[in-house]
Amino acid sequence: MSFNPLKIGELTAKVPIIQGGMGVGISLHRLAGTVAKEGGIGILSTAQIGYQRADFEKNTMKENLIAIKEQFEKAKEIAKEGIVGFNVMVAQFGYEKIIKSCIEVGADVIISGAGLPINLPELVKGSKTKIAPIISSSKGVKVLLKTWAKRYERTADFVVIEGPLAGGHLGFKYDEIKTAIDNMDEEVKKIVKITNEYAKAFKINVPVIFAGGVYTKKDIKH
Ligand SMILES: Cc1cc2nc3c(=O)[nH]c(=O)nc-3n(C[C@H](O)[C@H](O)[C@H](O)COP(=O)(O)O)c2cc1C
Repeated sequence: MSFNPLKIGELTAKVPIIQGGMGVGISLHRLAGTVAKEGGIGILSTAQIGYQRADFEKNTMKENLIAIKEQFEKAKEIAKEGIVGFNVMVAQFGYEKIIKSCIEVGADVIISGAGLPINLPELVKGSKTKIAPIISSSKGVKVLLKTWAKRYERTADFVVIEGPLAGGHLGFKYDEIKTAIDNMDEEVKKIVKITNEYAKAFKINVPVIFAGGVYTKKDIKH
């Protein structure tokens, strides 16, 4: 099976795979750098990214901000020409400071979920960093892209769907999961449709990336 490259603005990933942000301590420089080196998009999770640093217990925020730079530089050392970015959860303490640090170090992309990243465009203004929300419903993408268009006159550079089969803490209630799985394909179609409307309005290409429960060649094709 051959893949088309993934194009996000001027960025091109030869392999159209974005490695998921997994905190704490999983999506760090070795994983993200290696994925980027192989042609995918490597993602560092900022969730307690500085936990291995000596002063972390006392100066958590300061050490997390130092680690953002350190982990990014180390990932780029592994993947000199590769695409490396960050996953930042909206619910994370110090969200705005963390986003600013990711921009300062030169993140290629920022993917933000665990809540709607309403003010993300404002925080990345003036940078070349590409931004994507993580959403799990057509309602979520509708609200967010409408707000970004109205408030910031822009849209997402790409959209990440975290489906009901994804690992981690998803925000679905236990009895909602089955319905969400049954309706998954329809929901994905709706999300793509809404995203395309904004892509058209802003005259850009906005790829939609699906996450969760993608394990086999059959899943990838689907
Ligand atoms: C151990 C673990 C940690 C995770 N941490 C994060 C995180 O920090 N931020 C986030 O947005 N998603 C997080 N997730 C969700 C993953 O990014 C999500 O599971 C993935 O995109 C979906 O692919 P999968 O089906 O291979 O799990 C985490 C998932 C796991 C399993």
